[in-house]
Amino acid sequence: MINSKRPHMITTIPGPKAQVLLKLRERYVPKGVSLNIPTFINQGQGALVEDVDGNILLDFAGGIGVQNIGYSHPEIIEVIKSQAEKYLHSSINVISYDSYIYLAEKMDQIIPGDSQKKTMFANSGAESVENAIKIARRYTKKTDIIAFEGAFHGRTLLTMSLTSKVKPYKYGFTPLVGGIHKVPYAYCYRCEYGLKQENCGIQCAEKLEQILETVLDPEDVAALIMEPIQGEGGFVVPPDEFVSRVKKICEKNNILFIADEIQTGFCRTGKMFASDYWSIEPDIVTTAKSLAAGLPLSAVTARKEIMEAPQAGGIGGTFSGNPLACAAAIKVIEVMLKEDFAGKAQKIGEICMKRFMEMKEKYSLIGDVRGKGAMVAIELVKDRMTKKPAKEETEKILNEAYQKGLILLSAGMFGNVIRILVPLVVTEEQLNSGMDILEEAIKICQ
Ligand SMILES: Cc1ncc(COP(=O)(O)O)c(C=O)c1O
Repeated sequence: MINSKRPHMITTIPGPKAQVLLKLRERYVPKGVSLNIPTFINQGQGALVEDVDGNILLDFAGGIGVQNIGYSHPEIIEVIKSQAEKYLHSSINVISYDSYIYLAEKMDQIIPGDSQKKTMFANSGAESVENAIKIARRYTKKTDIIAFEGAFHGRTLLTMSLTSKVKPYKYGFTPLVGGIHKVPYAYCYRCEYGLKQENCGIQCAEKLEQILETVLDPEDVAALIMEPIQGEGGFVVPPDEFVSRVKKICEKNNILFIADEIQTGFCRTGKMFASDYWSIEPDIVTTAKSLAAGLPLSAVTARKEIMEAPQAGGIGGTFSGNPLACAAAIKVIEVMLKEDFAGKAQKIGEICMKRFMEMKEKYSLIGDVRGKGAMVAIELVKDRMTKKPAKEETEKILNEAYQKGLILLSAGMFGNVIRILVPLVVTEEQLNSGMDILEEAIKICQ
């Protein structure tokens, strides 16, 4: 139990116990496994984390968008414990277990669209994207993939090839996978065409059409993969028409539309999935992160005929769809629906947006405020006219914030976006105290 409802710091970070562990981490763990906050967790509850030195921090990062349901949700802990007493693993390929099936049934119910769907489970977001691409290729018998500039789909060889940012994700790890084509995303704050959203005619969708007429043969393209709202790329929310237009372009050209809902899923945006905003039925949906409350689990869900394309044994893996994780995920979905987590996310989003807009009035460092539901962010710039990214200031704010008890993460192609991925169980008082800390940090660092 954490004995406080608010952040409470008793040492600077890292405290004495964290310093000892950091030395060990440095000795045994490579720097490629990066670290944002130099301390170690002792326990987590709701939206709060206690570190090994007894500091209580408010978590606006949620383990990179994994804790939508909150740390240590009692109903989730209960099902994990009861599953752990029965068995931890048998492999779905060897002897089946019911939680895998019941979870697949739940995915059929919650993934956007009325078609009958099937689901396979994997262990990480990247693994689900890898499988989605394999399934798309097998179904369409085509090879190439379209991905977006600014996208993030993972760190494996295929998924880093789909990913946009070179440093740190691709730097020195080439050659990349071939047959992947990058097209512009609708990043309106930094429009590729220098247009204003009100009258841009969704030029980036036009560009995609053009590419498919002049540069790429749709006969070669198996799928287009898209985050309905870009996560790692800086919480970039495209105009409504963009997503629907892209989906239509895919339909017209016989290209499968893969919605990567790994960061946007499970109520983060104020709906169960971001795709729900545009009433589109993606051909394939990838999910992970908050699906199993922190246990490693991801999923690929698609129409029955697409999922049936791969031959037996062609997809899956030893640990895929672990029973503990499946049991937790069933409960996550039940709780999210029962307790209206989508509504909670909308409320959180309203509070954050209001606070951010007020901050934007006061601090010229804030160039843009954007988001949907509880997926909200600010983009920091050195100058509002030139929009020069304020990367160093962003880092300073993050450091200042954790010393005051707030865990934050950056994002964006230029590392100048502060994103909110707070557990959706955060109380209004906690949320406002987090916003106070963030504002204080901005004031000091601008
Ligand atoms: C949209 C998106 N896709 C894929 C991934 C990769 O997931 P994982 O880190 O679990 O492999 C992420 C992770 O941040 C993500 O945000």
